[in-house]
Amino acid sequence: MIILDGKKTSNDIKEEIAVEVAEIKANGGRVPHLAAILVGTDGASMTYVNAKVKACEKIGFESTLIDLPEDTSEAVLLQKIHELNTNDAIDGFIVQLPLPKHIDEQKVLMAVDADKDVDGFHPTNVGKMALDLPSFLPATPYGILELLERYEVETSGKNVVVMGRSHIVGRPMSILMSQKRKAGDATVTVVHSRTKDLAEITKQADIIVAAIGISEFLKGDMVKDGVVIIDVGITRVADETKARGYRLAGDVDFESVSPKASYITPVPGGVGPMTIAMLLKNTLLAREIRS
Ligand code: GUN
Repeated sequence: MIILDGKKTSNDIKEEIAVEVAEIKANGGRVPHLAAILVGTDGASMTYVNAKVKACEKIGFESTLIDLPEDTSEAVLLQKIHELNTNDAIDGFIVQLPLPKHIDEQKVLMAVDADKDVDGFHPTNVGKMALDLPSFLPATPYGILELLERYEVETSGKNVVVMGRSHIVGRPMSILMSQKRKAGDATVTVVHSRTKDLAEITKQADIIVAAIGISEFLKGDMVKDGVVIIDVGITRVADETKARGYRLAGDVDFESVSPKASYITPVPGGVGPMTIAMLLKNTLLAREIRS
């Protein structure tokens, strides 16, 4: 069993980007600038956004964090987005999800200038992605493709089961892996909360991408020997033995699944760090497009 080390791979990618940033600087150019909008104080979202900002610092990007209170109105958020859209110093920006319930997420994502949409969530970018046209790929699926590619995991002709149909992970992942591309050419099945006989389907899978948000849902008796496991889930599970009172768990029960797996991503240290690295890659691309 080989661990797909997202932490190490993301560090490799960040080093590659840092080299490009150093070159831009040496040539007297403007370094990429990423902005992030965070609405509210959700613990996990704060952790993710802070990690994104810290990663920018590490590789020499400029970054701006716009921290808004939980009760921010939709109108104020849309105004902030308009400011970032028209601010020439900003190459790309993200609005961290989920948003508070009183805000229409779709309206917000559609307000982001597609050329600065480094999350790849705008309908224009989703459409381009589905049509195999150049676009910003959503960072988590993009990170998974990159991890599979760098570890030379064969995907062509393989049975891939994507668990979950979210707009951020499951849906784009299923589209990308079925396309004619590196880490693609797979036969993809999407399973979700209404799927019948789920274990019968996961047992047929050569590769499973688990993105359903239920901790330790996928057990060893639901997979076949030699399966490749990509665990996108990351939830806080109460654990009194830990000083912070919780531990991080994936969608996969690592203990029972890993002995059967040929490759597996750990949680933490698997998909999460890859998401951040690919967001930085998209920001570098956004800067190239704009300059
Ligand atoms: N929430 C969970 N994943 C993501 C992501 O990739 N981007 C944003 N903006 N919010 C998220």
